[in-house]
Amino acid sequence: MSIIDPAIAVQRLPRHIAIVMDGNGRWAEARHRPRSFGHHEGVKAVRATVEACIRRHVPTLTLFAFSSENWKRPQEEVGTLMELFMKAIDREVDELVANGVALRFVGDRSAFAPALRERMDHSECKRPAQTRLNLNIAANYGGRWDIVQAARCIAAGVARGDIDADTIDESLFDAHVSLADLPPLDLFIRTGGEHRVSNFLLWQLAYAELWFSDVLWPDFDAAALDAALADYARRERRYGRTGQQLRHPA
Ligand code: IPE
Ligand code: IPE
Ligand code: MG
Repeated sequence: MSIIDPAIAVQRLPRHIAIVMDGNGRWAEARHRPRSFGHHEGVKAVRATVEACIRRHVPTLTLFAFSSENWKRPQEEVGTLMELFMKAIDREVDELVANGVALRFVGDRSAFAPALRERMDHSECKRPAQTRLNLNIAANYGGRWDIVQAARCIAAGVARGDIDADTIDESLFDAHVSLADLPPLDLFIRTGGEHRVSNFLLWQLAYAELWFSDVLWPDFDAAALDAALADYARRERRYGRTGQQLRHPA
């Protein structure tokens, strides 16, 4: 049974959830299996989370699949992950699109093999007839990279004469970071028990609500998501104001 009341949830649902899907390795190690087994099982949790977001009418989900720092892992593990991404794209994209999922990859894809880049480009071109969920996969993504690419883009605009340097402000910068066209990030979830951001959406996190779960990613499911949603629904987002101001607007 669901732990959140759907009637309340509708107005108090996050419009954009981002998840650091952490804990695959430890999940596998606890079962005396190779880390790659945990990554494979993690794909099932992705499927369950996507389905749960669609059912809950959460319109935007951003998943951290591979950080700009994950290249430092043993070559074998990086290879397994790349293969897994390719297979997951081949196997899942058509069904995702048929179910109303609009897919996008965020991050520096120039580091990926051409075969993977092609799959990414190709799957982004497949648009659902009616979008029920914007699903963003962060791959070779780093929050600092994102800020730097926005700065470079703005600098190029200034050099071309399209942007007046005096007009650079937070809202212009905001328009140049990844996912600028989607709803602002409302809820940041990290599984796996670590309480850190690990260079995920640094700029976009400014006013996101944070939820940390000890659940290891392969065990994450609709019930675990509901626990985060229920907690989010109870929070008062003050953005610098007082609670009084929010409850009794002038
Ligand atoms: C997250 O799980 C998946 C990726 C970073 C690709 P981990 O592989 O980091 O799992 P733990 O943290 O070692 O358990
Ligand atoms: C963050 O997890 C990246 C992804 C989940 C893709 P990590 O496991 O790489 O983070 P750290 O190294 O523990 O900070
Ligand atoms: Mg980890």
